[in-house]
Amino acid sequence: MRPEIHVSGDDVEMVTQLKNYLTKRLKYLLDMPGTIGIGVSGGSMPPIFTKALFACDADLLNWRRIRIFMVDERYVDKDDEQSNLGTYLKLFPPELAYVFVPIPICNDLSLTARLYEDNLRRILLPEQSGTSPRFDLLFLGCGPDGHTASLFPGDRAEHVTEYGWVGVVQDSPKPPKTRITLSFASLKFAKHSAFIITGAPKAHVVRAIWDRDNTLPASMARPYNDRLTLFVDEAAAKSLPSR
Ligand code: 6PG
Repeated sequence: MRPEIHVSGDDVEMVTQLKNYLTKRLKYLLDMPGTIGIGVSGGSMPPIFTKALFACDADLLNWRRIRIFMVDERYVDKDDEQSNLGTYLKLFPPELAYVFVPIPICNDLSLTARLYEDNLRRILLPEQSGTSPRFDLLFLGCGPDGHTASLFPGDRAEHVTEYGWVGVVQDSPKPPKTRITLSFASLKFAKHSAFIITGAPKAHVVRAIWDRDNTLPASMARPYNDRLTLFVDEAAAKSLPSR
């Protein structure tokens, strides 16, 4: 099955498309019990995701239910300007800081990954009713090299924990070198995933995702259930066949 695709002419249109997607998904998820687990990327995504989320009707933003996780994080303190969480915290009203589930960055990288995995299991699998913490929604970015989260081409993500939901990367080609990332297993078990991709240098990555060609991390990260939506601008869509 091909992904659902939304091509936008500019950022304003993309925010509207994302808001409509979020509105539909949140309406559905609010009728279901439990925590709504949303994973978000860093890079250029935080402002666009935040604008789209806050454009949704206020009654859909049930902060008792919504929890936001980083799909990847740089191994820096949240006050460091490179921190993905820190970037989101600057965009969100301070009283909503609690909706983020922080990656417990400590001096030991493996312990950091393990503690984050414990948090995922505790919050997304409270009754231990399954073995896989499943995100309700994932918002992924990608690089021109085809990476997504901090899963880079080649075999750089070392899955350090027992269950393999969180990995660490110590030689990231994109700075900073050391990162914590959701593993392919976590990304593939999401109930719905969306990529937000802009710019001509990423057009071939969009094409690889569209073709499901399994050559790049971004195309390998699609969910098992094929519920994948692409939000792309015209430049990023330029290598797609006419639809
Ligand atoms: C990060 C990311 C990363 C990002 C892509 C795209 O920590 O850098 O979460 O996976 O989403 O590299 O970044 P841009 O949107 O800035 O190109």
